[in-house]
Amino acid sequence: MPDKISKVDMEKIVSLCKRRGFIFPSSEIYGGLGSCWDYGPLGVELKRNIKDAWWRAVVQERDDMAGLDASIMMHPQIWVASGHVEGFSDPLVECKVCHLRWRATDLNGSSCPDCGGELTEPKLFNLMFKTFMGPVEDEASVVYLRPETAQGIFVNFDNVLATSRKKLPFGIAQIGKSFRNEITTGNFIFRTREFEQMEIEYFVRPGSDEKWFDYWVQERFNWYLKLGIKQENLRLRRHGKEELAHYAKDCYDIEYLFPMGWAELEGIANRGDYDLVQHAKHSGKTLSYFDEEAGERYTPYVIEPSAGVDRSALALLIDAYDEELAEGETRVVLHFHPELAPIKVAILPLSRNEKLVPLAREVYTKLRRYFMMQYDDAQSIGRRYRRQDEIGTPFCVTIDFQSLEDNQVTIRERDSMGQIRLPIEELVKTLQAKLSGESFATQPLWTAKTAEASE
Ligand code: GLY
Repeated sequence: MPDKISKVDMEKIVSLCKRRGFIFPSSEIYGGLGSCWDYGPLGVELKRNIKDAWWRAVVQERDDMAGLDASIMMHPQIWVASGHVEGFSDPLVECKVCHLRWRATDLNGSSCPDCGGELTEPKLFNLMFKTFMGPVEDEASVVYLRPETAQGIFVNFDNVLATSRKKLPFGIAQIGKSFRNEITTGNFIFRTREFEQMEIEYFVRPGSDEKWFDYWVQERFNWYLKLGIKQENLRLRRHGKEELAHYAKDCYDIEYLFPMGWAELEGIANRGDYDLVQHAKHSGKTLSYFDEEAGERYTPYVIEPSAGVDRSALALLIDAYDEELAEGETRVVLHFHPELAPIKVAILPLSRNEKLVPLAREVYTKLRRYFMMQYDDAQSIGRRYRRQDEIGTPFCVTIDFQSLEDNQVTIRERDSMGQIRLPIEELVKTLQAKLSGESFATQPLWTAKTAEASE
């Protein structure tokens, strides 16, 4: 294995993302738009792979989960019932000299960080984006862009229960965009006003909620470990009472050690029966569950694991990034878990020689049904390996003149840089086995008792 030689910082990640086509500043040719980013050809694959891995783990491989894709714009009363119209706000202060605005809690009572000017008294600023539905811009046509996907799940509780024939405990999972008009944004894709969530609302019998809360904290922590994030870069932090959201009885954050410090990847909250009770009250509909075994009707309690797709992508990029000394020079490499790598296999003919190209194209065409691939014949083979290392491609397949004689090719592995030679007809089977994780170390999974953060 090559030697690791340096630590990652955010600038290196931002630069690699731009240079290699993971993430671009939004609206760049117009000077950009604050806190908005566009996922490029590789970023969109990474993001899709993260969402697919989540969906597989929480929906496909379980019997107790159903999926949903609710509308972003919903009836405005939903946000009254959920408490967001009344309570989803941050205290905003403005500097009387330079007029910059801040979230009061970010300043910890100090004066304005840029100019030292006096600050206004905090006033509450609602974080929901408001717009109008249809051509008339009046109060009756106000709608909000959802600030969490969760409410789409709560208002469909009865629909999903009736059609999926699930029994408690069961959950509803959803992936989608949410919007928050944050006062301060930053740290690349960590805090943006438009972001994507992967949320589960898991409905349980009241009284069993604490057990299920512990279960989901552990389950979700282990998901990040299984995707290859180093355990020393992950921790759990329990919310203090003053920090709990208006709907939460209890909450743990799974935090990642980003270059700017520990910060939230996912929150797991015990929302009690808050949301279903509120929606029952405001809609006039019954939102409860008849438990046939116990012979009683009750309003379920809800455990909510709520993860950020963009934050996961950032953590996975940072965690995978290494600069290593290899064969006398520095190589940048993203050690992505194969499940997450945007490109799984690259086909690299030794050169553009006209005798090599037909076989290389034939292998490429044969394999692309199975794997997300790249074909690259530009520049030296060494530079092409480096390019694939830098975007995290687990395997490169090289076709050389010997291949024309013996129908064999070379597979080169990203992490060890080791090579094996094998017949072309064994390529698909061998790569499938290797990409399924056979050659990637798995770390021991975590148990709640041993890994709780000290603060
Ligand atoms: N649904 C929880 C959150 O969006 O933070």
